Amino acid sequence: MNREFLTINDVYKGFGEGDNRVEILKGVNLNLTNGEFVMMLGPSGSGKSTILHLIAGLTPVDRGQIEVCGVNVQKCSTNKILELRRRTIGYVFQDFRLLQGLTALENVMVPLYAVGRSRSVAKKRAEELLELMELSHRMHHSPRKLSGGEQQRVGIARALANEPKIILADEPTGNLDQRLSDGIIKMLSTLPQKMEVSILMVTHNQQLTKYATRIVGLTDGQIEVQSNV
Ligand SMILES: Nc1ncnc2c1ncn2[C@@H]1O[C@H](COP(=O)(O)OP(=O)(O)OP(=O)(O)O)[C@@H](O)[C@H]1O
Ligand SMILES: [Mg+2]
Repeated sequence: MNREFLTINDVYKGFGEGDNRVEILKGVNLNLTNGEFVMMLGPSGSGKSTILHLIAGLTPVDRGQIEVCGVNVQKCSTNKILELRRRTIGYVFQDFRLLQGLTALENVMVPLYAVGRSRSVAKKRAEELLELMELSHRMHHSPRKLSGGEQQRVGIARALANEPKIILADEPTGNLDQRLSDGIIKMLSTLPQKMEVSILMVTHNQQLTKYATRIVGLTDGQIEVQSNV
């Protein structure tokens, strides 16, 4: 059965005041259902990262509505937004953002501690996820000692820690070469079948779009469907 994990309804967002005011999003509509891997393309500065920030409740919309698993992000309390970010949304960053003082395993355990899991439960779950990412042999390494591709796979394991419904990935392979990017995105594309998760990924890399179930474009502040694969 198709379940709606994300609904963006007629969203507007601009920045600045008076003469410096710029309208970035001008009526964005987008849905994400269970099992989808949606890729978003669009020129630099078109507002792709802004859309991800709005979904995660990191910045408020000017107008319109965003629902994450039926919860209206704009109307919920700060605590509820934190809860969504901890449990329902997993974020993957271009620059990985791993904690350098911790091992790969500990990095994946952090979000599990944040929702109150015990050390043993967190460790078991983190080990399973790193195994899924084919990183069993790197669990006790510091991120510093991992390659870029390995670091991003730790980042993905961390994003999956609390069984999120939505993964938001902002140019996750922007710092990696084509071969590594392809491998990581191919792996990412298998997740919606393996677990109850959908992915919204921003990319500039046209060669990765073959892994999407749907491709959308952000142009002039609006989303247009480019293709249904
Ligand atoms: N907090 C902010 N204050 C002011 N302007 C902002 C803010 N955040 C984003 N912007 C502006 O909004 C526009 C869209 O930014 P955004 O980062 O969403 O673009 P993008 O599509 O992700 O671009 P890129 O592909 O380069 O990452 C840019 O012109 C940016 O300068
Ligand atoms: Mg961006």
